[in-house]
Amino acid sequence: MALKITVIGTGYLGATHAAAMAELGFEVLGLDVVPEKIEMLSAGRVPMYEPGLEELLRKHVAGIEGSSGRLRFTMDWAEIAEFGDVHFVCVNTPQKHGEYACDMSYVDSAVESLAKHLGRPALVVGKSTVPVGSAERLAARIVELAPAGGEVELAWNPEFLREGFAVQDTLHPDRIVVGVRSEHAERVLREVYATPVGEGSPFVVTDFPTAELVKTSANSFLATKISFINAMAEVCEAAGGDVVKLAEALGYDERIGKKFLRAGIGFGGGCLPKDIRAFMARAGELGADQALTFLREVDSINMRRRGHMVELAREAVGGNSSFLGKRVAVLGATFKPDSDDVRDSPALNVAGQIHLQGGQVTVYDPKGMENAKRLFPTLGYAPSALDAVRGADVVLHLTEWREFRELDPEALGEAASRRLILDGRNALDPARWRAAGWTYRAMGRPRA
Ligand code: UDX
Repeated sequence: MALKITVIGTGYLGATHAAAMAELGFEVLGLDVVPEKIEMLSAGRVPMYEPGLEELLRKHVAGIEGSSGRLRFTMDWAEIAEFGDVHFVCVNTPQKHGEYACDMSYVDSAVESLAKHLGRPALVVGKSTVPVGSAERLAARIVELAPAGGEVELAWNPEFLREGFAVQDTLHPDRIVVGVRSEHAERVLREVYATPVGEGSPFVVTDFPTAELVKTSANSFLATKISFINAMAEVCEAAGGDVVKLAEALGYDERIGKKFLRAGIGFGGGCLPKDIRAFMARAGELGADQALTFLREVDSINMRRRGHMVELAREAVGGNSSFLGKRVAVLGATFKPDSDDVRDSPALNVAGQIHLQGGQVTVYDPKGMENAKRLFPTLGYAPSALDAVRGADVVLHLTEWREFRELDPEALGEAASRRLILDGRNALDPARWRAAGWTYRAMGRPRA
């Protein structure tokens, strides 16, 4: 009989995983502890902006006309324990307040709440990003708490999806990594992932610590690549070089590759910054802190980018020590395009710093306005890019939405007080803006 699957936690990761599992043909029951989320998802609506996710959900959520009916949601732990053969744990692991370490309380409490009800054989599969060693600890906890005892097993199966591409990354993953302790667990996971593996996704079988480490080391590598090119941007600025050309030329070397070499105001979001910090904290606990001291540098290069953008903006508007009396338009609020996520967003951090220094900041973002207003209620907001730019002394392009690349520099120039734009993402076409009379400046590039 086909496996029945549950998904615990319905954020970016869980909601996408649940819909993808239904798409692969499984009966799926998703659980969350927030009633509003369950209500929305059950009505086929997604509580965040993620391209393609709502369509996939509506294709499968029970009760929606024409759906497969394979996907349902609940808040009842006993129900999912009774229903599922495989339980995916997809809750988040944020950074602890005021510390580098990650907060495991959501994972711990999800696993405990589930385990207490597990009266029949099952495989619990951790997907959350956790400090190495967590799987071993949780496996012991499950056996201790589950009425079915040793018949409940744990496996670790990190998730590598990117926001904005969550559906595609989940249905067609680059690789599937599973940390297992038995052939049975491996067999079950091979069954779950038979379709993507059949379509060519590599299936890597390993132990718990290696599976946990693949995720944190992948994110550390990506963060390092971005900070590397941003360090080169600093050198380019000092030497009069062009980091965009440099990155292009580096990228032709296949050993380096051209992806993740976009210099600008650096990385943010709910993953990379907190994951490298949690990784350093964990290495410290393991006595291996020296191995990761370079990540401290990766983090500080990254944070320096935000400050540098503020400096460039202040210099551009001619403010000596503050932005008093200056109007600053900020295009972009989310940590990256095609997402409404503003967690640790470099764009909002820059906007906030300028506001604190007396600037009159007006932000516009295609999808992130609601979340931005909640997090930074004192900033000004405008309903369109044109409205944000009206009367501005300087325009900052801080998140590279397609909408911003397609703006008409001429129309914006008429609205702005000065035609001065700083591109914090190296994503606009300098020639277009300059042709319309704008002074265009970017990070790590020569001034024209
Ligand atoms: C990341 C990982 O890519 C993903 O595999 C993991 O599962 C979760 O963390 P995500 O946070 O969705 O995914 O965003 P990503 O596309 O990696 O971008 C992260 C940040 O880096 C963004 O702020 C982005 O603007 C920035 N970035 C990315 C750059 O500054 N330069 C680049 O060249 C690429």
